[in-house]
Amino acid sequence: MILPIVAYGSPILKKMAEEIDENYKDLHKLIDDMYETMYEASGVGLAAPQIDRSIRLFVVDASPFAEVEEGEELDPMAAGLENFKKVFINPIIEEQSGEEWGFAEGCLSIPNIREEVFRKPKIKISYYDQNWNFFEEEYDGFAARIIQHEYDHVEGVLFTDYLTPLKKRMLKKKLVNISKGDTDASYRMKFPTLKKGKR
Ligand code: NI
Repeated sequence: MILPIVAYGSPILKKMAEEIDENYKDLHKLIDDMYETMYEASGVGLAAPQIDRSIRLFVVDASPFAEVEEGEELDPMAAGLENFKKVFINPIIEEQSGEEWGFAEGCLSIPNIREEVFRKPKIKISYYDQNWNFFEEEYDGFAARIIQHEYDHVEGVLFTDYLTPLKKRMLKKKLVNISKGDTDASYRMKFPTLKKGKR
């Protein structure tokens, strides 16, 4: 089932999400719905607060980044993303290291805005998968960046929080418009300042 994606300005996106346990109801169905919702919106990551659940869960599938047209070569940055499809439950980023690098990020909750965000290239993260297996792993490059972005969502942080005051001022009108439902996202969204869902 495709779920509406919560838009910028919704309080749930600014809230620290709660951990869940094995008794969380219909977890597998929720994960399936999150993947379906993410694919429909052409995203590579989706966090539970974005579908209106304040829990520490996100899904990623970065394999589209590693797709190459015939005759093209794989971008070295995308190496290793071919099978990067994972569910992260109760994640904790234990460590981040290396020299920060900039990349223009986007977010399904903030359609049609991309801005450069600086992040460290290497992370160590612990988490549970959908079957409650525990992992502690290291990631770098794009995989790390996608995880950092989604992890921020369960911490109540958006990429726009990293922008300079000047940049924020320049984007203010666009962001206010998104929160009012004045956006042409190709997927269904839920807006904070509208009573009813609007497409
Ligand atoms: Ni996002």
